[in-house]
Amino acid sequence: MFITRRERFNAAHRLFREDWSDEKNLEVFGKCSNPNWHGHNYIMFVTVKGKVSKETGFVINLKDLSGIINTRIIDKIDHKNLNLEVDFMKGRIVSTENIAIAIWDELEENIRQIGAELHCIKIVETENNFVEYYGN
Ligand code: NI
Repeated sequence: MFITRRERFNAAHRLFREDWSDEKNLEVFGKCSNPNWHGHNYIMFVTVKGKVSKETGFVINLKDLSGIINTRIIDKIDHKNLNLEVDFMKGRIVSTENIAIAIWDELEENIRQIGAELHCIKIVETENNFVEYYGN
């Protein structure tokens, strides 16, 4: 059984490589390379899998899952600059792909501890662009 919790966060970022010129960054990363930052209203879907408990009828208590997501992720990234202020994004290009990988790495063990297995991190960056990460 799969179960999904949706959370939202607003954050600023810039896609760029320090070793590239502003022109090259603009060419490769487009508007997301704007040197003065910009923001997105991100939507995140965290899907876990597990067996339905006979005792509770739940795969996982969504209150527990939401608690973990908020403590480990949302509190650290909501209304923040992802390039400058978020420990688990340090040293990574702040692409939607890398955000999904970093969030996976932050959540995987904690979700296992409450008795389920992380299955997918989906991050929606814009109406038209989203990524899904399944751990590899
Ligand atoms: Ni952007």
